[in-house]
Amino acid sequence: MAVLLVRCGGMQNAHNLQFETKSAVVKSQVTGGKASGRGPPEAYSRSDKARRLDAESSFAVHDAQCFNQWMLDVRDEKPEDRESVYQVVSSAFGGAAEAALVDQLRGDGDAVFSLVAEEDGLIVGHVLLSRMAAPFPALALAPVSVIPSRQRRGIGSMLVEGAVSRARREGWAALFVLGDPHYYARFGFSVEAAAGFASPYAGQHFMVLPLGSPLAATTGELRHALAFGALGSGG
Ligand SMILES: CC(C)(COP(=O)(O)OP(=O)(O)OC[C@H]1O[C@@H](n2cnc3c(N)ncnc32)[C@H](O)[C@@H]1OP(=O)(O)O)[C@@H](O)C(=O)NCCC(=O)NCCS
Repeated sequence: MAVLLVRCGGMQNAHNLQFETKSAVVKSQVTGGKASGRGPPEAYSRSDKARRLDAESSFAVHDAQCFNQWMLDVRDEKPEDRESVYQVVSSAFGGAAEAALVDQLRGDGDAVFSLVAEEDGLIVGHVLLSRMAAPFPALALAPVSVIPSRQRRGIGSMLVEGAVSRARREGWAALFVLGDPHYYARFGFSVEAAAGFASPYAGQHFMVLPLGSPLAATTGELRHALAFGALGSGG
């Protein structure tokens, strides 16, 4: 699975284009105005509604006057990315605890999938999805990391959206996250929907996102992977 964001110039009106194939989710942001130099747009506007295109019509986007000011690829982590991921997670959180959590989840075999955001060959973001015990097939989304110099440009959102889309495709029923509701509500995560579940992380920052159909249960016991115990939090 890959997400590709391409910023192109020379078009009159700004808009975002998105298409999904079985193996890829691709977003192209086509912006108007003059070229502003290399680097990501100041802010990736979530208010611009993404339009879903089929795979055929998407190629028209790439035929447009794109000059690839910014290319971001959200893809599966490879074994050779691990050191970079460690650095990304440590720098995002300002310490090694969450990076150690990622290593331990992988080492314990509890990581289900791990996505990285790669910008011009550099890993700038990461998200990990790990197995957890729940009344239905569910994953824990944590941690999510974007290096400080690349935050607030939509990279975190693309990682979360990529993870949600991948989990949905794989047939998982829900994702749980511990985090700031202001941030995660935009993806559909709900504190209220998680309120009935018993977990050490239950509370005002604990959220669930049902994927597809309504949850098969609204109460029950949750258990995160063992590695979270060492961190003392679920996110
Ligand atoms: C949280 C994080 C992954 C977001 O990534 P990002 O690329 O900066 O996020 P986006 O650009 O997609 O979204 C920006 C929005 O997120 C908000 N945001 C960024 N970091 C936030 C945080 N720690 N808490 C709450 N909101 C946050 C911004 O205020 C902005 O909100 P707005 O759109 O209402 O203005 C990133 O800031 C990060 O790595 N933070 C440090 C690690 C962390 O706290 N991870 C989350 C817990 S697992």
